[in-house]
Amino acid sequence: MASSEEALMWVEKYRPKTLDDVVGLKDIVDSLKAFMKKPKTMPHLMFAGVPGTGKTTLALAIAHTLYGPSWKNFTLELNASDERGIDTVRERIKDFTRYSRTGFGENVPFALIILDESDQMTGPAQTALRRIMEIGSRTSRFILICNQSSKIIEPIQSRCAIFRFSRVEKQAMKEHLINIAQKEKFQLLPEAADRIVEFSEGDLRHAINVLQTTSAYKEGVIDEKTVALVIGEASPMLVQKMIRKALYGDFIEARKTMYDIVGNFGFSGNEIIRQIQREIFKMSDLTPQQRADLSGIIGEYDYRLTQGANSDIQLGALIAQFAKFGKNIEEDYAETN
Ligand SMILES: Nc1ncnc2c1ncn2[C@@H]1O[C@H](COP(=O)(O)OP(=O)(O)OP(=O)(O)O)[C@@H](O)[C@H]1O
Ligand SMILES: [Mg+2]
Repeated sequence: MASSEEALMWVEKYRPKTLDDVVGLKDIVDSLKAFMKKPKTMPHLMFAGVPGTGKTTLALAIAHTLYGPSWKNFTLELNASDERGIDTVRERIKDFTRYSRTGFGENVPFALIILDESDQMTGPAQTALRRIMEIGSRTSRFILICNQSSKIIEPIQSRCAIFRFSRVEKQAMKEHLINIAQKEKFQLLPEAADRIVEFSEGDLRHAINVLQTTSAYKEGVIDEKTVALVIGEASPMLVQKMIRKALYGDFIEARKTMYDIVGNFGFSGNEIIRQIQREIFKMSDLTPQQRADLSGIIGEYDYRLTQGANSDIQLGALIAQFAKFGKNIEEDYAETN
């Protein structure tokens, strides 16, 4: 990607360059900083965990910290799944470490080899990698990046300090999004930020991408409604409110809420039905049997809609069915609302 295009992608534009700028991940960052104080003590590292949480970012930040602006001279970035087999990896690493032995100055304790998507390597390739690591470890350190450490063979795991990346904390994500919006001269309302955070499930890359898309829809202020349009989801709270009203027997109110959702967000009948389905599975106060029964009702109306039936009428009828169903649910269910 050309650098001008890259600059347009907020995920790249706002990728932290230093360990201090990384969002969340405090324990991991603290350990890495300790290594950075005495680089010679740094072992091989393995970064494992869910996508979009900062693994590649941290590996690059380490390179920046160790080598400064000329980090590219001392860092070999390989994508394990892209390269045509382990032989290519071996050759490139061999060339690189050979050069590193002769080419580096006093201040550079070792070269850095970042092997992304290492869990995509086959078993034999990993065995070969293990040998490469053994031979290369005098002059280089490896950072292996993967989603699942269990896919990496034991001898490699035991050679690495393993850091596990879990979902980025919600509050830290929210602040980061609001910050980016500010720099981009937008105002991201707190409820809108919450929606993006909820939707992204701890994947900060995803969250930033949603934010960037949202900003293209509207100038100035990004509100919850714009976010809902971009992610193709009405407010889950509103959908749940509608479901609960219906189950509680309040057909008129439930239908009113439905019109609010349709009117505000402009979703099609099928889209709303899909969201009703999703919310039902989130409602922990329903028993599995109740969820299954409600899904059965939903399935019927989804089918009618795909057959071209009028969506207002069918959604109204669906709510009526929910109301009927709700009558059979015991009082204590209604009390929780
Ligand atoms: N902890 C974080 N702090 C700040 N920005 C982050 C963080 N995690 C992700 N990002 C943002 O998301 C983008 C992608 O992050 P990164 O490439 O580090 O993810 P990853 O963990 O390597 O994901 P994958 O497993 O998909 O390779 C970064 O460019 C950055 O903008
Ligand atoms: Mg990555």
